[in-house]
Amino acid sequence: METKIVVADFEDWRESVHEAVELLKKGELVALPTETVYGLAADVFNDEAVSKIFEVKERPSFDPLIVHVAKRVDLKKVAEVPEELEEVVNALMEKFWPGPLTLVLPKKAEVSDLVTGGLQTVAVRMSAHEVMREAARLLGPLAAPSANRFGRISPTSARAVEEELGGRIPMIIDGGACRDGLESTIVAPQMGKKGIELRVLRPGPVTREDLREFGKVIVVKKEAVEGESVESPGQIESHYAPSTPLLLFEKPEDFKPEDGKKYGLLSYRGEERDGYLELCDWEKIEILSPGKGKLTEAAVRFFYALRLLDGAGLDAIVAEPVSETGIGRALMDRLRRASAKK
Ligand code: TXA
Ligand code: MG
Repeated sequence: METKIVVADFEDWRESVHEAVELLKKGELVALPTETVYGLAADVFNDEAVSKIFEVKERPSFDPLIVHVAKRVDLKKVAEVPEELEEVVNALMEKFWPGPLTLVLPKKAEVSDLVTGGLQTVAVRMSAHEVMREAARLLGPLAAPSANRFGRISPTSARAVEEELGGRIPMIIDGGACRDGLESTIVAPQMGKKGIELRVLRPGPVTREDLREFGKVIVVKKEAVEGESVESPGQIESHYAPSTPLLLFEKPEDFKPEDGKKYGLLSYRGEERDGYLELCDWEKIEILSPGKGKLTEAAVRFFYALRLLDGAGLDAIVAEPVSETGIGRALMDRLRRASAKK
């Protein structure tokens, strides 16, 4: 199959979306930009289209998909909001939608088990990217996981989607680089004994600190085992992984380079004082936040830099840790998963 890449420019982006929607109506898949990472979209109410997502991504069927809606009222097309959660769900949508927050809620009967991996809940978000939102407005709710093959590096540009899925899907809309660069924060709100609890199933651009005013934030740590039924199947340990082994150390001195091997460094700010630059004769160095050490910039560049290192023919990539505050937590989560043994 030939994959057509359409650039959504300022003026004609709506035209490109129309073209994508025509394909979606026919049950085809289209890769669309979001503010987090590119998504691989299908009509959520078309089982045949949804099953193509799993085929194209080589994704196991127990791993559920995120559903994208165009407006807040559309949440109720796919999810049932329990009365006791009505207020907090509205407040969260008010504050973070459109944006990188995914809510896990009881699913509507119309949403098939294919979408939810058999779970009775559905994950829903409203993207801040106008291309994804316009497509969902014209067609209706879209199932859209990240547009990469299962377990691999998430794509933050159309080019990266092409590397992942070129030849397997008919169209990619190029909406530029993703603004946030890391997948959405996934939160399951629930009523606890002492009030609202927000269970964070995946850390992301909306941080713990951002969520605090809406309830008690509980970070779900339990690592899931592949194949087991889990609350958030994306929590499978090895994920977002480059093909090249990724090494993460407690302290820089723990890295013992072997003779004759080619190493790359994923550096946070490219500074000697962090202790990594001088550790060996790096074959390639990518800096996440050159000079400044800004976590938001590091997040935006993370998957892009990892992809560059992964394509450099290295024996291993060493990653500098970043501080675990704000979006740094989501970054370290991705780094740990990328470095987990496969
Ligand atoms: O930013 C994002 O969320 C991107 C863009 C494209 O929207 N999407 C994304 O989708 O990251 P994906 O498929 O790569 O990750 C979806 C994850 C699943 O692996 C699972 O952990 C979680 O969402 N998920 C989906 N449905 C769920 C549910 N009903 N309960 C708990 N977790 C769920
Ligand atoms: Mg993914």
